[in-house]
Amino acid sequence: MLDKRNELNAWDRDHFFHPSTHMGMHARGETPTRVIAGAEGVYITDTTGKKSLDAFAGLYCVNVGYGRQKIADAIAEQAKNLAYYHAYVGHGTEASITLSKMIIDRAPEGMSRVYFGLSGSDANETNIKLIWYYNNILGRPEKKKIISRWRGYHGSGVMTGSLTGLELFHKAFDLPRAPILHTEAPYFFRRADRSMNEEQFAQHCADKLEEMILAEGPETIAAFIGEPILGTGGIVPPPKTYWQKIQAVLNKYDVLLVADEVVTGFGRLGTMFGSDHYGMKPDLITIAKGLTSAYAPLSGSIVSDKMWQVLVQGSDQLGAIGHGWTYSAHPICAAAGIANLELVDELGIVENAGSTGAYFRSELTKAVGGHRHVGEVRGDGLMAAIEFVEDKDDCKFFDPAQKIGPQVAAALLERGVIGRAMPQGDILGFAPPLCLTREEADTVVKAAAGAIESVLSGR
Ligand SMILES: Cc1ncc(COP(=O)(O)O)c(C=O)c1O
Repeated sequence: MLDKRNELNAWDRDHFFHPSTHMGMHARGETPTRVIAGAEGVYITDTTGKKSLDAFAGLYCVNVGYGRQKIADAIAEQAKNLAYYHAYVGHGTEASITLSKMIIDRAPEGMSRVYFGLSGSDANETNIKLIWYYNNILGRPEKKKIISRWRGYHGSGVMTGSLTGLELFHKAFDLPRAPILHTEAPYFFRRADRSMNEEQFAQHCADKLEEMILAEGPETIAAFIGEPILGTGGIVPPPKTYWQKIQAVLNKYDVLLVADEVVTGFGRLGTMFGSDHYGMKPDLITIAKGLTSAYAPLSGSIVSDKMWQVLVQGSDQLGAIGHGWTYSAHPICAAAGIANLELVDELGIVENAGSTGAYFRSELTKAVGGHRHVGEVRGDGLMAAIEFVEDKDDCKFFDPAQKIGPQVAAALLERGVIGRAMPQGDILGFAPPLCLTREEADTVVKAAAGAIESVLSGR
């Protein structure tokens, strides 16, 4: 076993190009390789036998938890019966057609069709193309700019990496590309004017958006994209009334809204969709992760009836739509999606995300909220974050070179729990599987308190 482990470690360093990894340190063996061997419920186990409670559900995606026989069986059955057929020129499979119906049944009002992809990034690529196509069909070729937010996360392709508003995803990649613009992040804790209350800050964000639309010319602005709650940018819930105020600006200038629900779709906030949770009225919705709980790669762009009617009109002028992936609506992934959505209902995990989420965040606040280096404990549903500060009274942040967030995440892992050091700021994030129990939530809280104490007590 040891020989096999050593061999895997060597192959990994020599041949495996890991995403989001320091390439040099990893190749030189200065950072550890962790080879995951198995998982059950909310726990993963590595090849050394170390077990960890995965309080980030992989990358906030394993919503129903690990080891679900029902999904494994559905995948195996589909692979035996029909491993693949494409979805071009009107082809479908029982699995892909059934899943599209199940998604629309669960989606917010006014949604009509699902275009399937394989990742959140490609679904947002599809969204951008559909927005441009829509405005060309409507005879508005200049209405093409898309406004995203600083700290938004929408993928790491060329256009979706441009939508993403995080420095690390732009630096040295020559991103962002036109015609993508970024407006202010709805990040109340980091607001420049400390005298503003939440509603005033929400108004300030809406005013900034309106200023940008007017400066660019409303006839050039096609769409606005946002996650209902900022995810990778720091797990930041919107300030009160934010979405109502943003929605009013978008309606005024005929700007489409894309709700990126890759993280929030299918229950994470205690409602089936985050759009319903915050009263957003999207024209397009991006889904991925929770659609299959990551048992197979599958994403989707949910298209509203308003856009669909125009797209249909377009086919009559332009012919078949020139947009397709070989693996669109892959039947094995669709079978995983059906079994997963059935489990979401059977296990009642949407309700559990709401109730256990509230319990988890309240226990976390009680345990660490008073710490002198904890600036804020925040979140919604089963998403939570702890933001660390050097000085609470002045809201002074640590020098990023100290890597406080990663240090706390490492100390947490030593205590048997996985959290995520978010990429911009000293922020420890949690987004556990939605089947989390209160007892498991207590384990996470206890480990977080211990980790924070061990890293920050002497500072
Ligand atoms: C909100 C959001 N949109 C899009 C994506 C991109 O998804 P993928 O990594 O599957 O391309 C992510 C990934 O974390 C995400 O959080």
